[in-house]
Amino acid sequence: MLVVVITGASQGIGAAIARAFAEEPQARLALVARQQHKLEAVAADCRARGADVLVLPCDVTDEAAVAAMARQVLDRWGAPDVLVNNAGQFRPAPLRETSVETFRAQLEANLTSAFLVTQAFLEAMIARRQGHIFFMGSVASIRAYPGSVAYCAAKHGLLGLARVVREETRTLGLRVTVLLPGATYTPSWEGVDLPEERFMPAEDIARTVRALYHLSPRTVAEEIVLRPQEGDI
Ligand SMILES: NC(=O)c1ccc[n+]([C@@H]2O[C@H](COP(=O)([O-])OP(=O)(O)OC[C@H]3O[C@@H](n4cnc5c(N)ncnc54)[C@H](OP(=O)(O)O)[C@@H]3O)[C@@H](O)[C@H]2O)c1
Repeated sequence: MLVVVITGASQGIGAAIARAFAEEPQARLALVARQQHKLEAVAADCRARGADVLVLPCDVTDEAAVAAMARQVLDRWGAPDVLVNNAGQFRPAPLRETSVETFRAQLEANLTSAFLVTQAFLEAMIARRQGHIFFMGSVASIRAYPGSVAYCAAKHGLLGLARVVREETRTLGLRVTVLLPGATYTPSWEGVDLPEERFMPAEDIARTVRALYHLSPRTVAEEIVLRPQEGDI
């Protein structure tokens, strides 16, 4: 049995990660996002690959909703073997055009969400002394992107959160990995006038997550940067 919880699983990178883990024998996937109809479509793909799937519509910025979502997973399947904090939103704007509401919303969607979801599963994972937590950072976690002030601040914060979770859990049997991808072809780039070939495919990020999970329990990949072959966009 392999229990995997993926936030932001309704499209893009999260959906690709769900499809990748659906190939595992006896996969049990909990798919989390707000839009149920999109989750159902990804769930159908995963079931066709043999996985047992739970569709869990949830706003991961809402503390009570996250607690209820985690309770459903824990009651049904127990602690996850893999937790992928992938949900996020990309709303680019320079500082001068960013309202405090937009800034807070980007922090909520990209940073507070991962804090809430990780906290909701942490005790159960520690009790088993086993499990792998992934955080979906970005190259915006490690370099400045003028014109994306709130997103960049949130993703820098996410890297800090992940580093602390790593240090707080490394002797408790958990592994923690932050992925730092560059431009990846997903609906979040809709409307951008660049060829698909200029981006990484979401399947490559998914394949990386699955491969890192399969390292021996004696090894953790702490921080992984992935970039399009021709560099950042
Ligand atoms: N694409 C890239 O180039 C790139 C590069 C580096 C890092 N990343 C990161 O990778 C992650 C996935 O990116 P993507 O490109 O696949 O994004 P995407 O296509 O926009 O998908 C985002 C996912 O997050 C979910 N989500 C957003 N807000 C949510 C909320 N409040 N509660 C629950 N779910 C929520 C969305 O589902 P609902 O709308 O149904 O809720 C969707 O499933 C993000 O963290 C992003 O920052 C992406």
